[in-house]
Parts: sequence; C-alpha cells; structure tokens
Amino acid sequence: MKLFDVYPLYTVEPVSAKGCKVVDANGEEYLDLYGGHAVISIGHSHPHYVAKIKKQLDAIGFYSNAVINKLQKELAIKLGVQSGYDNYQLFLCNSGAEANENALKLASFKTDKSRVISFKNSFHGRTSAAVATTDNRNINAPINQQQKVTFLPLNNLDLVEVELQKGDVCAIIVEPIQGVGGLDQGSTAFFQGLETLCKTYGALFIMDEVQSGYGRTGKFFAHQHHQITPDIISIAKGMGNGFPIGGILISPDLEASYGLLGTTFGGNHLACAAGIAVLDVIEQEQLVHNALKMGAYCMEKAANIPGVKKVKGRGLMLGLEFDFEVQELRKTLIYEHHIFTGGSANKNLIRILPPLSITKKELNIFFEALETILVKETL
Ligand SMILES: Cc1ncc(COP(=O)(O)O)c(C=O)c1O
Repeated sequence: MKLFDVYPLYTVEPVSAKGCKVVDANGEEYLDLYGGHAVISIGHSHPHYVAKIKKQLDAIGFYSNAVINKLQKELAIKLGVQSGYDNYQLFLCNSGAEANENALKLASFKTDKSRVISFKNSFHGRTSAAVATTDNRNINAPINQQQKVTFLPLNNLDLVEVELQKGDVCAIIVEPIQGVGGLDQGSTAFFQGLETLCKTYGALFIMDEVQSGYGRTGKFFAHQHHQITPDIISIAKGMGNGFPIGGILISPDLEASYGLLGTTFGGNHLACAAGIAVLDVIEQEQLVHNALKMGAYCMEKAANIPGVKKVKGRGLMLGLEFDFEVQELRKTLIYEHHIFTGGSANKNLIRILPPLSITKKELNIFFEALETILVKETL
C-alpha cells in the first residue's frame, strides 16, 4: 500500500533524539527549534518521561472510560495546581482539533445556539467545527462550510459586538497568539473586552491554548498575560511531549451530564502517564521560567540580526519576520546548518518553537548560523 501523499517532506529522517537534539539515519545531529510543530515541551526522550511511560506500559496501557482510572484524576489535580485553574473541570481527548471540537460542541449544547465568532488568520484544527473556525478556505471542504462561522479582524471589539447582538452566537474562539497564522495577537484590552462581551450576550469564551499553552510563553497559559478567565481552554501539543493527548479545561459554571461528551481513547492510561510526566518535569525543571528567560534572550539577539524586520510572539513562541520570503533561508538552515525551524501563513516569517528546556548555548548556535547566512547573502 502507498501512503496518501499529503505532506511535502524535508529529506531528513530522524531516528533518535535527546533534549533539543535530533539525530538522523546517517548519524548527523540537528538542533530542534521547532519541536515538531510546538509539541516537544520538556525535551525529546526525557528520562523521567521515558521511564514513566515504560512503567505504565508494563502495568496497563489502556482501558476504556467505562472504568475507574485514577491517573486521570492525578493529571487533573496536577494540571489544576500548575495552571491556576484548580476549580475547573478536565475533559481528556487525543489532539488539538478534538479539543476545540469538544469546546465548540459544549458551547453549543450549553447556549442552545450554533454560530461561532472566530478571527482572521486563525487555525483551530482540521475536524468538522474546528476547521470551520479556521480561516483557510483551502482546508475547508464543502461539508465543513455548512457550519455558521463569522471571521472578524483581531482588535476590533465594535465588530464583535455587532455580531453578538444578533443573538445566535454560541462561542467566540481565539488563539492568545496565532501560531500557524503568523504570531499576531490581540491586545489586553481586546481580550478583556471579549470576556465582557461574552458575559453580556451569553456566549462562551473559548481560548485555544493548543500551541501557546503549557508554559510556552512564560506563563502556564498565554492568556494569563492578559488577566482574563475564559470559560473553556483547549490544550494539546506540549501536554504529552509527543504522546497524543489533548483536553479542555471547563469552567465550574458548566455542568457535566453523562454522555454529553465522550471518547474511546481519550484519557487512556498511557496518555495520562505521559501527561503526568510532562507536568512533573515542567515543575521540577522550572521550564515556564526558562521559557520566559530564553524568550527574552531570543528577542535581544534577534533585534541585532541584519534583515530581521520584527520579532513577534512571547517566550518561546516566536516569529522572526524578514523583508523577504524565508523558504530558502529555512532550507539552508536545515540542510547546511542542521537546524529545524518552522514556517507560517506569513511567508516572510520563521517560527521558533523549541523545547522549553533550551539553553542560551543552543540558541546561540541558531543566531550564529542566521548571521552567517544573512551576511553571506548580502556580500
Ligand atoms: C492553535 C491550534 N489549535 C489547534 C490545532 C490543531 O491541533 P492538532 O493538529 O493536534 O489537531 C493546532 C495545530 O497546529 C493549533 O496550532
């Protein structure tokens, strides 16, 4: 059987990895500044993470959500304490799209309404409602276009209010910092205004922290830079450091009932073991603080690189914007300097999403490579 060929590939085959380093099939080392789409939070193959998953697999890897699984409670308690949302409720699933799908569904159940407000350039995943709230016509099939979604520009509260006044909106969904879209973000006044408007008009406020959450921006959640409290927070990516796991944090005001949401695989024993190990390491190694510190260091270094027009984002969720398209630059970085970086909808922007454990020494390798390439090109 052939693979369904949907991914353009770089000709690199990682076969092992440790911390921020990835090794290919020829034994060549690469510096990972992308974490496989912002997934690697605590570093590749962290010993505590590996040991915990192996031990769990020896005990029990999976049973369904029809029986008691104490690991789910342990994960929920740890997540509540570390995130500051210990009064919220946790529903576990398997991916970011699924998290948003459940968030939107819950909002629709609770409000008995169906239209969603989303924002220009947003990305919320590829499943039914999640993709419908994603501002990219190319990945919305006709079946997805049946959903009622209104896309608005960021930072315009008047337009949001006009839509909410129509009375049919179940939720506003927004990324605290846009990932795939290119690192744009709303202002504190905008996010605070959204929270107030949602309360006024009875819509639910969904924060998509799938990419920005789990310490990446120097706070556990990126929206915590804005002193707001969403009704639902969706999580995935860094949550499992590569093990597929996602979830939603749900306000205590939203009551659960049997069968309202459900999944076969979500919250299984192995996924919970991975999720618990990630939280252990984030806490023990103070990775949220490291993200803040290393993010500030990157901002300082990037400001001195010739050709960098703007540095966007926060912490270790950064975008370096150039005044040219970066496709060739990213290829040179990967093939000649062995450094993984990310692209975005903004063709002039390099995305930097390293493991939260990255050091100054490792970041310097990137900035030196960038300088070498850019200086060579201007000669
Ligand atoms: C903000 C955001 N939401 C949702 C998703 C979808 O997550 P997944 O690919 O795990 O379904 C992504 C993936 O890039 C994302 O960046």
